[in-house]
Amino acid sequence: TYACAMKEIRTKFEVLNTEFKIRHQRNPISSISTRLKRTASILDKLERRHLPLSLKSIETHIHDVAGIRVICSYMDDIYLIADALLSQDDVTLISQKDYIADPKPNGYRSLHLIVSIPVFFANQKKEVCVEVQIRTIAMDFWASLEHQIHYKASHEVPDCVVGELRECADIISQTDQRMQRLSKQIRCMEDKKD
Ligand code: GTP
Ligand code: MG
Repeated sequence: TYACAMKEIRTKFEVLNTEFKIRHQRNPISSISTRLKRTASILDKLERRHLPLSLKSIETHIHDVAGIRVICSYMDDIYLIADALLSQDDVTLISQKDYIADPKPNGYRSLHLIVSIPVFFANQKKEVCVEVQIRTIAMDFWASLEHQIHYKASHEVPDCVVGELRECADIISQTDQRMQRLSKQIRCMEDKKD
């Protein structure tokens, strides 16, 4: 069920990317990856939250069984793609966390959406939740390495490392903004030529 929901959402993003490429001669999405949460991780999460270990409980409480990560070229593309997805009438927004407008204290940036979509089977239709993370290539670069550093460290990461990671995140964010400006500048020049 979750794998099917993930496929549906992936196709929606691929369609948006193709349409945009035809209309504007560029791809807003640079790559898409998907992951299904392992059963052990699902059970861990239920136990941590003192929730019943049942299928019903998973469906109600665990919204990240199916996860899809969309990596965009520019910051504006994130909102463009998110708005286009949310405007589709079979997509319901369950919750949203905008860690770009409001970064996490460690510097993490990304737009997170929990959406639900209907999946059609032979005898039934099921509404299924999917966690969507949308971020730029630069935000993804930081998040991947930050995750690795925490994962590799056997003890808690020292404050100085946390501080420097935060600094890196801020530099990366400034670079994202500059790249966005450059892209707009070039597009303006091209539009004037036409
Ligand atoms: P869980 O941690 O999944 O229980 O959810 P939550 O309700 O705290 O959700 P949130 O939207 O904050 O984070 C969900 C996912 O975003 C995580 O599983 C990670 O994939 C990613 N994420 C959130 N915070 C960080 C972070 O500080 N660093 C990195 N590298 N990834 C993060
Ligand atoms: Mg999670």
